[in-house]
Amino acid sequence: MKSLKNIAVLASGKGTNLQAISDNIRKGALRANLVVVISDRKDAFALKRARRAGVKALFIDPGSFGSRQAYDRELVAALKKERVDLVILAGFMRILSPFFVKSFHNRILNIHPALLPSFKGMDAIKDAYRYGSKVTGVTVHFVDQKMDHGLIIAQEAVAISDTETLAALEARIHKIEHSIYTEAIRKVLAGKIWVQGRRVICR
Ligand code: GRF
Repeated sequence: MKSLKNIAVLASGKGTNLQAISDNIRKGALRANLVVVISDRKDAFALKRARRAGVKALFIDPGSFGSRQAYDRELVAALKKERVDLVILAGFMRILSPFFVKSFHNRILNIHPALLPSFKGMDAIKDAYRYGSKVTGVTVHFVDQKMDHGLIIAQEAVAISDTETLAALEARIHKIEHSIYTEAIRKVLAGKIWVQGRRVICR
């Protein structure tokens, strides 16, 4: 039987995507080893979730490093030490340096709560809602050197009704994130995708 690939999750906040990934691994819905969870915030709830799931949880303090590159060197070293094949960003609130991106070329995924290239940035759900968009959604993409720009692996659209509250929309988007991310990770790990220009083709 083929050996399982090692994945790492990087998260700064609540970690609901981490939880969904970890639950799916436990249930057998995602075949992967979650070998480490790393956060840049000591109090990130994601670290608690990792420990609770019996996964190694590391806080790497950006305050201890003089530059983004120095911090990222430490992150990459930690990931290499754990022999990580695929890096999963799940609410990791830092822009990765070119060094990091090159170290894991096309092996870093991110999830964004909007239909990229619309509504890049930190407040994507709110921004789409306040803009008055009729449709928004979720994007899973490879990470490249520009923010929210890498090749798109999966997207799902979400219609915004005229009476919906922002909180209700947020809840619906997060629910979709929790399934679409696992599905995309599964395809990438299985090698069921290839790239033609900017197009990622999934079998
Ligand atoms: C998600 O909405 C994700 O799309 C964005 O950050 C949020 C992380 O949420 N990149 P959580 O920490 O996984 O709950």
